[in-house]
Amino acid sequence: MRSIRIGLLGLGQIGSSLYKLVSRKAAFFQKRYGVQFKIARILVKNMRKKRFSGLDAKRLTSQASQILKDPSIDVVVELIGGVDSAKKYVLEALRSGKDVITANKALLAEKGEEISALAGKLGRQVFFEASVGGGIPVIKTIREGLGANRIDSILGIVNGTCNYILTQMSREGLDFQTALEQAQKKGFAEPDPSFDIDGIDSAHKIAVLARLAFEQNIPFRDVYCEGIRHITEQDINFAKNFGYCIKLLAIAKRDASGIDARVQPTLVPQDHILAKVDGSFNAILLDGDETGEILLYGRGAGPEPTASAVMSDLIDYSRGLESRFPEASKKPLKVKNISSILSRYYLRFSVLDQPGVLSKIAGILGKYNVSISDVIQSERKSGTVVPLILLTHHVHEKEIRSAVERIDAMKSMIRSKSRVIRIEA
Ligand code: HSE
Repeated sequence: MRSIRIGLLGLGQIGSSLYKLVSRKAAFFQKRYGVQFKIARILVKNMRKKRFSGLDAKRLTSQASQILKDPSIDVVVELIGGVDSAKKYVLEALRSGKDVITANKALLAEKGEEISALAGKLGRQVFFEASVGGGIPVIKTIREGLGANRIDSILGIVNGTCNYILTQMSREGLDFQTALEQAQKKGFAEPDPSFDIDGIDSAHKIAVLARLAFEQNIPFRDVYCEGIRHITEQDINFAKNFGYCIKLLAIAKRDASGIDARVQPTLVPQDHILAKVDGSFNAILLDGDETGEILLYGRGAGPEPTASAVMSDLIDYSRGLESRFPEASKKPLKVKNISSILSRYYLRFSVLDQPGVLSKIAGILGKYNVSISDVIQSERKSGTVVPLILLTHHVHEKEIRSAVERIDAMKSMIRSKSRVIRIEA
C-alpha cells in the first residue's frame, strides 16, 4: 500500500479536524484510493498546550525545519494562517521539492503571484481548495468542472460570520454585537473578527476566485472592501419594506473595460437566489458562457467542512493531479476604481421632518444625474429627526458620493451622516 507522509503546519481548529479525519477514515481512504495518509509531523507554537485525545504527541515539533527539511515528508499542509511566516514556510517547502496544500486565502490573495511563479519554475503544485468556501468545492469547479467555460461573473456570499450576523439581525432582531458573539462561539469567526466584519476575509476570497477564473493577477490593494459594521436593524427593516435583504456580497466581474472586484454590503432582491442563503452558509454564483449560471451552496466555515476540502486536495495530490493558478494573461486588465462603478443605491438620510426637505434633497440628487425610483418616510413627527429612505436608478458611484456629501453639508436639515448601500439588481 502506498503511503503519503504529510507535514502539517499548524494544529488549530482546522488542523485538529484534519488530524481526526485522517485517523477516523483511514480504512475508507485506503479502500477508495489505495493510499495510506499519515500526518507524520506537526508544527505547533506551544508544545505544552493541552490538545485533543487521540493525538500522538510524539509527532509535534516547534521547529519548522523538522518538516521542511525532512526528505521523508512528501507534502506540506499549511494551516497556520497569516501572511509572513506562512509565505516563508510555503516558499521553503517548494524549494525543498515538496508540493504544498494551503487553506490560506490571505496568503494567496496577497502573495499568490510570487508563490505561483516559484511553483511554476520548480514544477511544483500548490493546492488551495480550502482557501475559499470551506467545504464547497469551488476551486475544482472553476478549474475542472467549468474547464470549457469563460467565466465573466462571480457573485459570492463567502463569509459565514457576516452572513450569520446579518441573518440573525434580520430574523431574530438581534443587535450586531450579540450576533457576532454567537458566531464566535460557533467557531466561524477568524481569530481577529475584524477580518470577517470589515470584509477583508471576503476580499481575500474574491481575489483568489477572480485570479483563478479570469486568469489575471488581481493586486489585492485594488479590491474595494467595505464591511458590515455600519449596517443597522433599521436598514435591514427598510430594505425588507422595499423587497430586499442585505447581504455581504463579494463580486468579481469582467468586461472589455476592466475587472470589477469588490466586497460590500448589498441590497439583494428577496427573490434572488442569493437572498435565500442564510445563517453561516456560503454560496457562489458563477456564470459560465457555456453552462449559464451555476450555484454552489454549502458550509463555508467551520473546522470539519474546511478539513474536508484540505483532504480533497490530499486526495488530488495522491493521484498526481496538477493545481496552481493559471499563468496570468499577457494583456492584463485593470481593476476598476470603485468611483467608476455603475449601480443602484439605497440612501438613508436622517432629516428634520419639515416642509421642503425632500425637495431640497431631490434637487441636489437631480443636479448629479441621480434619478429616484422609490421613497419612504415611515415615521412622521413634525420638527423631529426622521429617517428618509430613497432608492435610485443606476448612477455612477462618483456622482452619488458627491451628491450625498453635498446633502450632508446641509446641517440645518441633516442630523447625522447619511447611509449609502449599493443595490444588486
Ligand atoms: N471566518 C470565515 C467565515 C471562515 O466566517 O466564513 C474561514 O474562511
